Amino acid sequence: MVAIMVLHGPNLNLLGQREPEVYGTMTLDEIDQRLLQAGKQLGLEVRSFQSNSEGGLIDALHTARDWAAGVIFNPGGYTHTSVALRDAVASIELPVIEVHLSNVYAREEFRHRSLISAVCAGKITGFGWRSYLLALHALAQIISGES
Ligand code: DQA
Repeated sequence: MVAIMVLHGPNLNLLGQREPEVYGTMTLDEIDQRLLQAGKQLGLEVRSFQSNSEGGLIDALHTARDWAAGVIFNPGGYTHTSVALRDAVASIELPVIEVHLSNVYAREEFRHRSLISAVCAGKITGFGWRSYLLALHALAQIISGES
């Protein structure tokens, strides 16, 4: 089965407890389970990882070259600051979809800038946990080469 990576950045391990009015009440584990099920229906094996460190995320992106056909990536706060993560995304030559639970454009101005977007296939923001689900469907189509 074709495998894809779902990569969650800093503080997303606290989903469910962390600012629920902004990020919803679903835990990261619940989101990952839903993506696993949705992936099965699309014929994709979904493997999820989370790291609070920039280095951990970069290592996961590098390793994905060996096994993944694409990546769904929520870089959390690093979205707005990390040149190193942008460079990692640019260097792996896999389709990467940037995802955010919240609508970053309706929030503080510092969240409007993403260093990652320009090197991604696309970006989905503002649909809560369903941002990941939408990204999964988009990635499935990209991988299958559907036009
Ligand atoms: C986030 C948005 C970021 O601005 C924030 O730092 C996060 C979560 C989101 O999913 O909405 O940690 O990536």
